[in-house]
Amino acid sequence: MTRPRIRKAIFPVAGLGTRFLPATKAMPKEMLPVVDRPLIQHVVDEARQAGIEHCIFVTGRNKSVIEDHFDRQFELEVTLVERGKKADLASLSQDLPEAGGTSFTRQQSPLGLGHAVWCARELVGGEPFAVILPDVLVQHPRGCLAQMIDASSDLDAKANVIAVEEVPMERVHMYGVVGVGKPVGKAFAITQMVEKPKAADAPSNLSITGRYILQPEIFDLLGKQAAGAGGEIQLTDAMVALAKTQPFYGLKFEGRSYDCGSKIGFLTANVAYGLERPDLGPELRAELTRMLAAK
Ligand code: G1P
Repeated sequence: MTRPRIRKAIFPVAGLGTRFLPATKAMPKEMLPVVDRPLIQHVVDEARQAGIEHCIFVTGRNKSVIEDHFDRQFELEVTLVERGKKADLASLSQDLPEAGGTSFTRQQSPLGLGHAVWCARELVGGEPFAVILPDVLVQHPRGCLAQMIDASSDLDAKANVIAVEEVPMERVHMYGVVGVGKPVGKAFAITQMVEKPKAADAPSNLSITGRYILQPEIFDLLGKQAAGAGGEIQLTDAMVALAKTQPFYGLKFEGRSYDCGSKIGFLTANVAYGLERPDLGPELRAELTRMLAAK
């Protein structure tokens, strides 16, 4: 059966970003740059590359800069025109989702990722959709979501697909973790999902990596979901409930992920993305080599 196209993606961006204080005191953590693009721009690029037409941001107080970022900046554009900076102007336009292709709703209380996704239910409606966590960057020419959509083309119409990757066993307690069943095309059947398990209780060392394709039936379950790990309404727990009636598949994607919710992941992502840039890479590599040799 052919699957319906995935047209909408939810970006939960309500978190306070306390791990990056004081940088995030007056600025959303999603606006922290990896090289010269804010985190949120990197993940919106990935979504658009995967064919997403409508980006739904679940925001909170202090996040209005994100809305401004995905709008035209008239004064800036006029100045760029006056200065003849055509390339900068073109790239700013290219970064913008199409007019009408963004929506913003608020998560009024910080009740967890599951609650944030539920807040987007009216904007998503009754179609399958993607969830992209902006903390996680996946460095790959096609991004991660496009790989998931490809892999899901052979799966049944009501399949849910989750990106997973191996993490050291001593880190599984930081993630959602899946149990591995039989291979199905490029993916595998998921047998279990547990949010932030102790190493001893983890069904594998495959962690959920912040990219999901979900069926809209998740919303009713999220609406009823009790608080789980950390006292928060967890998306993983509602997925466990949905797995009783719909299949879940895991995809080990290609590319490297960076957890930009942690300082070390964020710094490493800046180095990795910088090294990949033709205009910066060679010089950055030389600088890093010099620095490391001096230690
Ligand atoms: C969330 C999810 C978790 C997933 C992780 C990926 O956790 O609940 O299942 O593995 O993102 O980054 P959080 O990082 O919000 O605690």
